[in-house]
Amino acid sequence: MLEATGAPSVRMSVLDSFSLDGETAIVTGAAQGLGKQMATGLTEMGADVAIADVNIEKAERTASELDGETDVIATEVDVTDEASVEAMVEDVTDRLGPIDVLINNAGIVENSPAEETSIESWRRVVSVNLDGVFLCAKHVGQQMLERGEGRIVNVSSMSGFDVNVPQKQASYNTTKAGVRMLTQSLAVEWGDQGVRVNAIAPGYMRTELVDEVLEESPEMEETWLENTPMGRLGRPEELKELVVYLASDASSFMTGSTVVMDGGYTSR
Ligand SMILES: NC(=O)c1ccc[n+]([C@@H]2O[C@H](COP(=O)([O-])OP(=O)(O)OC[C@H]3O[C@@H](n4cnc5c(N)ncnc54)[C@H](O)[C@@H]3O)[C@@H](O)[C@H]2O)c1
Repeated sequence: MLEATGAPSVRMSVLDSFSLDGETAIVTGAAQGLGKQMATGLTEMGADVAIADVNIEKAERTASELDGETDVIATEVDVTDEASVEAMVEDVTDRLGPIDVLINNAGIVENSPAEETSIESWRRVVSVNLDGVFLCAKHVGQQMLERGEGRIVNVSSMSGFDVNVPQKQASYNTTKAGVRMLTQSLAVEWGDQGVRVNAIAPGYMRTELVDEVLEESPEMEETWLENTPMGRLGRPEELKELVVYLASDASSFMTGSTVVMDGGYTSR
């Protein structure tokens, strides 16, 4: 356990510091894709996990797949709606106990040239990717601040550092850069109150979101691979260890960081 300042009270072994035994975590957008893998990683390290998604049928299927050694539940949330986020926090707290870890993963992409992008499309992307991260961090954060401990991991993207080509996705890139600054802002506000806030910035990972983009424009994959020094897309399960690291005491002196995992894309 950590003192309110975030410092481990007793020096732990390396392996112990990654443990999430008995902790409660929420992963938003975890019915499929990266979030599902992140939720799996957290359960493997001992956490009870809430699969929080707007698609409740899929969230329930995922929760029953993962339910086993630890408790895994499904909870319905639209992260763009403040009342829905508040209801999710209450539901998870009632069913699993106070929340130790929040993974703000729900996100969408809509590709179109900026000059043709409707304000409705722009707002949809901003609403899920930025408002959603803010609202969940706000309401889970309130509870964490009251208890003097908690860890939040926001999901940004390499698109928050680098303008990916050939797809045109100004709204997505902008929101993912915003997630980095929101992460830093919350880290500074809450740094001395035991709540750490970090982010991850994945490169191209093979999920349903990416499949949808490639279905429309399969030729894009070649450009993506050419621009990725490792020459392949990431596998969603490759993010599990990084998320566990940031969600656990293993990263006890870390807050405000955005960790890139992109096969070298942003290093070119
Ligand atoms: N796949 C990649 O290559 C990649 C790369 C970098 C970052 N990311 C980010 O990782 C996150 C997950 O991406 P993914 O590829 O797994 O996507 P995905 O489309 O496979 O899954 C997204 C999940 O979010 C849920 N969701 C959408 N809107 C929601 C809302 N309003 N409220 C609650 N849940 C909602 C969906 O139902 C879905 O289950 C996103 O934030 C995405 O931007 C993905």
